[in-house]
Parts: sequence; C-alpha cells; structure tokens
Amino acid sequence: MDNVRNIVILTGAGISAESGIDTFRSDGGLWEQHRIEDVATPEGFARDPDLVLRFYDMRREAVLTKQPNPAHDALAKLDREWSARPNHNLLIVTQNVDDLHERAGAAHVHHMHGELRSALCTACMKRSPWDAPMSDRPACPQCGVNALRPDVVWFGEMPYHMDRIYGFLRRADLFVSIGTSGAVYPAAGFVRDARELGAQTLELNLERSEGSAWFGESRLGPASKLVPQWVDEVLRVS
Ligand code: OAD
Repeated sequence: MDNVRNIVILTGAGISAESGIDTFRSDGGLWEQHRIEDVATPEGFARDPDLVLRFYDMRREAVLTKQPNPAHDALAKLDREWSARPNHNLLIVTQNVDDLHERAGAAHVHHMHGELRSALCTACMKRSPWDAPMSDRPACPQCGVNALRPDVVWFGEMPYHMDRIYGFLRRADLFVSIGTSGAVYPAAGFVRDARELGAQTLELNLERSEGSAWFGESRLGPASKLVPQWVDEVLRVS
C-alpha cells in the first residue's frame, strides 16, 4: 500500500445484498423473477410502460425501507479518511441504483447505471430527485410534461459518467471490485483497463466473479465482513 494514492472502487449488487436488496443473477434473483428484455431495455419500456414503471416503483419503495450495512459504512469511512489526505483520491463507482453508499456517508460516488431515487424526463431530458411512484404518470417538476421514466441505465444505453470514470481509472494505483459478478460491460472491463495501466487489483466477493482471473488477489466471503477488514488494513498500513 506504500505507493497507493489513487483508489477506484467498483461496487455491485453484492454489497447491498446483506441490506436485504435482491441481487440480479443469484438463484431467485431479479433476473429470474423478471425478463431483462421486459423491464431493463428501451424496447421493453416502449412496449409496456406500465409494467416497467411499476417494476421500478416497487424497487424504489423497497430501497427506501433498507439501511446501509457494515460494508457501506466501512467504505464511507475509507472515503472520508482517504480523501482528507493531501494528494490522495478515492472514487466509488457503483453499478447499484440504490443510495446506500450516500446514506452511509460516502461523498465520492458515481452511479454509472443511474439511480432509483431520480426521474429522467423524456421531454426535457432533465433529471429530478424522485421518491414517489411514477406509474400514475406525474408531471416533470422542471418542464411540466407527463413524460417521466426511471433514471436508470437500461441495456443498450450509455452508462453515466464514463469520461470521469476512465479518467480516474487511468490514474488508479489500486482498483478494488466488491460484490459484482463481472457479467456486464463496460464495468466488467475495468479490471483489465486498470491492470494494463499498472494498478494493483483486488476482488472482494462471495464467490469468484466471471473476471476473477484478472485480479491480482481475490478474497471470498460476505461483503459485511471482508470490506471492514480490508478498510482497517488499508488505514492501518498506509
Ligand atoms: P449480480 O447479481 O450479477 O452479481 C452480484 C455478485 O455479488 C455475485 O457475484 C454474488 O456472488 C455477489 N454477492 C452476493 N451476495 C454477496 C455478499 N453478501 N457479499 C459479497 N458479494 C456478494 O449483480 P451486479 O454484478 O451488480 O445492470 O450486476 C451488474 C449489472 O447487471 C447491474 O447493475 C444491472 C444488472 O443487469 C443494469 O440493469 C444495467
């Protein structure tokens, strides 16, 4: 850890699993309960907007009842302490659409797949904070048109913040992936990018991810145990 100043942390559904939020690809996970084509593509939304709006209303409502777990708390602590050091930077890139990193107190978070607690207006293309249902077709608070959709990135759409994320990855000394299956690009490719650019790479996951072979080190177990242990290590030795 001696030469590490810039840390990029990628998180996925596994970090929120112990808060009671369903992952996607586990047995009984979201993609067994629903077809991706129906609820996570622009074509699905065009075909049956009511179904899609109800699906995200349900997920938004559920997330509001969940709390950050010790893994979110530990990353928030690392973010606070690491980012306070001169010339040290940390970025949490999350594929998650919940806000548990922020509620744990993390300040440097990019949601590359969007956010459940946000609405995107398909008329004015503005994003607005949003906690209410959308299936009753409310008006956009910014332009007044009834054309809101969930502000989440669907398959076939461009993830958010990619320029900033690649900018950070290019400077990363350490890349850490937590609770993601490594099944969805571009996030699944970050480990290779970071590694090719000379960063150390570490995976913390319940089981080996699809890209596990690319990591310099893999630690297997629940995020609520592994993440606090790793954060303590980082803050102790550096
Ligand atoms: P997945 O459901 O694909 O993978 C979750 C990963 O977390 C798996 O590798 C699990 O083994 C691991 N996991 C489960 N419980 C864990 C725990 N308690 N501690 C640590 N790890 C645990 O979810 P993601 O990789 O986040 O995108 O999925 C990536 C993207 O696919 C999502 O953002 C979403 C989805 O389709 C879009 O909808 C665009």
